[in-house]
Amino acid sequence: MFDAYGTLFDVHSVIALCEQLWPGKGAALSQLWRAKQLEYTWQRSLMRRYEDFARVTEAGLLYACLALRLPLDEERRRSLMSAYLRLSPFPEVREVLATFKASKLKLAILSNGSPAMLRPLVAAAGLGGLIRTIISVDARKIYKPAPAVYRLAVERLRAPKTSIGFVSSNCWDACGAKSFGFRTFWINRTGAPVDELGATPDHVIGSLAELPALIRRPLS
Ligand code: 2OP
Repeated sequence: MFDAYGTLFDVHSVIALCEQLWPGKGAALSQLWRAKQLEYTWQRSLMRRYEDFARVTEAGLLYACLALRLPLDEERRRSLMSAYLRLSPFPEVREVLATFKASKLKLAILSNGSPAMLRPLVAAAGLGGLIRTIISVDARKIYKPAPAVYRLAVERLRAPKTSIGFVSSNCWDACGAKSFGFRTFWINRTGAPVDELGATPDHVIGSLAELPALIRRPLS
């Protein structure tokens, strides 16, 4: 089971459009946008004020543009939000998913994204035939790493949690899933230190390409 944003799909593939709109500011905008998007998911979960991920993503964009003093008109807002529905998958994703599918593993996505964001994203990347089960936190109205979200995946997959491997490049997400009881794989693409959250991922790898070697036999 895979996290979506940052794991299968590169959230920073929006930099190109940001850069086109505000030359020289693309990377800073993308970083702050993502940071605020995630902060808002945690803060709203604590406040018990769930709003779906599209609205949270848009709120993060509005904040980031204001903070960086980048004027965001309606047209720019729309084009940036629609870019979020066409994020690029990381280069190794298709081949790795195809390998797993061929070995008859059941593949799923568990994401903060709402179904209305995730379906076009998977389709635009041409991954629809490889990964059909898409589980969204929206069904529980709370964001990762709330245990209710990982529990939702167990219910949807109808599999014991010990048989589910969870893959995320967001360390805090891998820690949350480990704390819940999944076997976890953290994709550490940037060589970051592990988050200090009291539960650590079982495996740390540099990219998804290293995953098939770790999952040759059924998880136990
Ligand atoms: C996701 O759920 C955390 O980016 C995140 O897809």
